[in-house]
Amino acid sequence: MPEIKQALMPTPPWRRTDYCGAPRAKDAGREVALWGWVATRRDHGSLIFIDLRDREGIIQLVFNPEHDAAAHAVAEAARAEFYLAVRGRVVRRSEGSVNAELPTGEIEVVVTAAEILNPSLPPPFPLSGAEGAAEEVRLKFRYLDLRRPEMQSNLRRRHQALRGARAYLDAHGFIEVETPILFKATPEGARDYLVPSRVNPGRFYALPQSPQLLKQILMVGGFDRYYQIARCFRDEDLRANRQPEFSQIDIEMTGPRPEDVHEMAEGMMASIYQYAAETEIERPFPRMRYDDAMERYGSDKPDLRFGLEMRNLSAAFAGTQFKVFAETLARGEQIYGLVLPAACQLSRRELDDMAEGLRSRQALGLAWLKIAPDAWQGPIAKFISDQERTRVAEIAAPAAGDTLLMIAGARGKVRPALGDLRLRLGAKFDLIDRAALKFLWVVDFPLFDFSEEEKRLVSVNHPFTAPHPDDIGLLDSEPLKARALAYDMVLNGQEMGGGSIRIHNAELQLRVFELLGIGREEAAVKFGFLLDALGFGAPPHGGIAFGVDRIAMMVCGTDSLRDVMAFPKTQKAVDPMSGAPSEVDPRQLRELSIRVAL
Ligand code: AMO
Repeated sequence: MPEIKQALMPTPPWRRTDYCGAPRAKDAGREVALWGWVATRRDHGSLIFIDLRDREGIIQLVFNPEHDAAAHAVAEAARAEFYLAVRGRVVRRSEGSVNAELPTGEIEVVVTAAEILNPSLPPPFPLSGAEGAAEEVRLKFRYLDLRRPEMQSNLRRRHQALRGARAYLDAHGFIEVETPILFKATPEGARDYLVPSRVNPGRFYALPQSPQLLKQILMVGGFDRYYQIARCFRDEDLRANRQPEFSQIDIEMTGPRPEDVHEMAEGMMASIYQYAAETEIERPFPRMRYDDAMERYGSDKPDLRFGLEMRNLSAAFAGTQFKVFAETLARGEQIYGLVLPAACQLSRRELDDMAEGLRSRQALGLAWLKIAPDAWQGPIAKFISDQERTRVAEIAAPAAGDTLLMIAGARGKVRPALGDLRLRLGAKFDLIDRAALKFLWVVDFPLFDFSEEEKRLVSVNHPFTAPHPDDIGLLDSEPLKARALAYDMVLNGQEMGGGSIRIHNAELQLRVFELLGIGREEAAVKFGFLLDALGFGAPPHGGIAFGVDRIAMMVCGTDSLRDVMAFPKTQKAVDPMSGAPSEVDPRQLRELSIRVAL
């Protein structure tokens, strides 16, 4: 192997003139100096071709022993992912060897000098075609995974998305303020990550689940129009679109109405899509009430890229002979259905599997009817009267050949279950317009939900969300009916951001805490600083926060957050590269007055 001088040489032997991906046909004749990784190497006996890769792309190098024997020896020794420095001349490729797939495909570099700056172990997975490699392995060797053009492109788009957000917010008078990471628990519905304080034994900071309380306090502090690209930490069960540590674009304004927040947020999203995807998005976004979203799509983040809307069919089956439906209605429960068009045919077997899945996982039954011009078919068809058919047709308008799918049970269970089925059917029959960007606002969320587990009211959003002004009276009588001044921005079935107008009055805040089971004393301990602040002329305020990672995921068109984060964690909240979380030195624990009891 040629000598590796760089072991002793911390800087490359020559300055780079160009990134590998940059030269074009117009550069023919120019001398260039490049650095990069060996992507591929093809040995044709005397001629050796190497594709050299850096952040801007790939360029073909030609090593000819007749030009420079030493450089040729370097090419002979080089292997995948060796880091090379080369010098040479850009030449046009011959007509027949132009590679139209590659931006640099019209040219190549005839190398006159080359050095290996660092060899590489054989990569544990091929960098091209890495999609096939196990994700654990890609994350363990993340630096190799990051070299791949797909990851390079994703992280750059993410960067552009953030530029788009900053450009808009800066132009609209928002001031970036940083808030602490070591702070007190802010409830966003997840568990806290705790950090022990060495100098205050037995006491803990909580990593912020969001900067919610601090951004509100910034409004009290006079920083009308704040934003921050804020890191948030939530110890929750991970899914493809959740990470324990993620970033938000966090925004707060003094005195806005919900529409003001929407207009600002739409402008910011338009700027993000311009910067990151060169795409114009349609504004204003439609709005849908939470109740309608649940009723028609069974979800508070409806995917509007396809139809298959749900319908409440309960009224059609009043007085039915079909026992299951009759019992459902007698219990005061509901029957919801959706019509699957004739073009989407489910086999008997698929229908049975679907029904079995619903039965075993959610104890719900699936009933179905095939629509024929005169008689409807299926196991329950014989129980359905002409009158019921007429009423179902009025509500759901099925056509010949369609399949009517129905689920009966408690509304709270049936709607999400059918909504879920809707999504699966949309994907299965390819009904989703993949190119569409279906933004919407979901508004009029309820303020509270009843937790069966804890047997108490819980916030749907967070406890600082203002009740709808028309519903304040309901707080005392029927709190579950009170709406919140809260809104979510949804894109293609994903929640991109959420926010609300806040409570700015200490008494109302205490009343809401009380309804949540947080008494005055507990409120003083946990949120005393907020309540104090509200007492000093706190202005009305409201805002929103967006998931940066989710935005990046959407602009990159991937379906995993891990594709748009440099160093994400696995489903088990582990970083396979560093091994975090790891055990610590017992001395460190002693200093923190902590004993581990496993
Ligand atoms: P919320 O909890 O809805 O609101 O969070 C706002 C947005 O952050 C993103 N997000 C996440 N992204 C990745 N991984 C996670 N674990 C995760 N959790 C949330 C989502 C979500 O819409 N303080 C309020 C905002 C406000 O009221 O202004 C809050 O944090 O895109």
